[in-house]
Amino acid sequence: MAEIIASHFQGETLLDVFMGGGSVSLKGKKVGMRVLANDIAYRSKIIGEALIKNQTEKITEEDVYSLFVFNENAGFIQKNYVPQIFIPQVAEFLDMAFENARNRESPKKELLLLLLTKYILSLRQYGAFQVGRQDNEMLIENQEIELLEMASESRGKKVRYNISHPLPLLLKLKDQINYGVFNNGKENEVYQMDCFELLEMLKEKGNKIDTAYFDSPYFNSTVYSAHYKILDEILEEKRGVEIDDKAFNVKDTLENFERLFSLSEWIPKWVISMGYNPASDAGIKGEELLSVVQKFRDADLYEMEHSWAINNIASKTGKRQSENVEYLIVTK
Ligand SMILES: C[S@@+](CC[C@H](N)C(=O)[O-])C[C@H]1O[C@@H](n2cnc3c(N)ncnc32)[C@H](O)[C@@H]1O
Repeated sequence: MAEIIASHFQGETLLDVFMGGGSVSLKGKKVGMRVLANDIAYRSKIIGEALIKNQTEKITEEDVYSLFVFNENAGFIQKNYVPQIFIPQVAEFLDMAFENARNRESPKKELLLLLLTKYILSLRQYGAFQVGRQDNEMLIENQEIELLEMASESRGKKVRYNISHPLPLLLKLKDQINYGVFNNGKENEVYQMDCFELLEMLKEKGNKIDTAYFDSPYFNSTVYSAHYKILDEILEEKRGVEIDDKAFNVKDTLENFERLFSLSEWIPKWVISMGYNPASDAGIKGEELLSVVQKFRDADLYEMEHSWAINNIASKTGKRQSENVEYLIVTK
């Protein structure tokens, strides 16, 4: 997917306005563009610092061992997320490890925070925070044998990760992260800003940007800060982290796109990812978003992939009624 998206990029500098997990920024970096990566969430800024801006530093085995050095810490995770999210021994390790990671200098700090983020997500089924309490309670009651007997394969794997020593998994995840660290010889930059403020700021600074890539959240789909609430709280070590990331999830999403594009007129090429799912009314129809783009400049609409929900195939006609379409809009 990132490959197809990047094939539409032009020029030397890419602005990834909603970088999220950073896959498209990484692709831009790989093809030798100078990358400016942005996201409103700290969880993404960490990825940007570790993999987009950082060119040379990798996580060593010693860095992983350093996470286990005993320290006095506030016990934030132990106090707030046991048993609903973690069992006590995992929470205790995480409190210690986060304290050690936060005390490092950038980009080691972000590399280690990314490692711990990946570790946390590996412990959870579907990487989600809504499930797991029941498993934790059974583990706390020393019922791991019963739990493993009743658990499905994927759930059992997560249970095993939770009760194992963290070192082997951390060493495996370290290698995955290090694989993403490379030098493209460009001064890549990372921002944690609201998209509108970012575009105004970059224009004012007289930055030269050749391509802007927009992959905003989808209208009517899960809000990122709701999905990652617990992770965001852990990363910022405080309850109730507020992230203003709903502009594209709510009703006036087309107006927000129009505002986004009017602030981007100084950027010659725009590539926009979006999708539409009629069953859940999530996203925006291609023609609808295309007509907003065309208020500013001519553009092409490319369909990327279709997926069909089986239960939405009308039985009599055999016609597929619920067609989930992912598409790209590329300005000429
Ligand atoms: C669909 S994801 C991007 C996925 C990304 N292209 C990838 O490959 O992982 C959308 C991102 O937009 C961010 N976001 C939401 N509202 C924002 C805003 N107003 N300004 C900047 N970023 C925002 C969210 O935090 C989320 O990470």
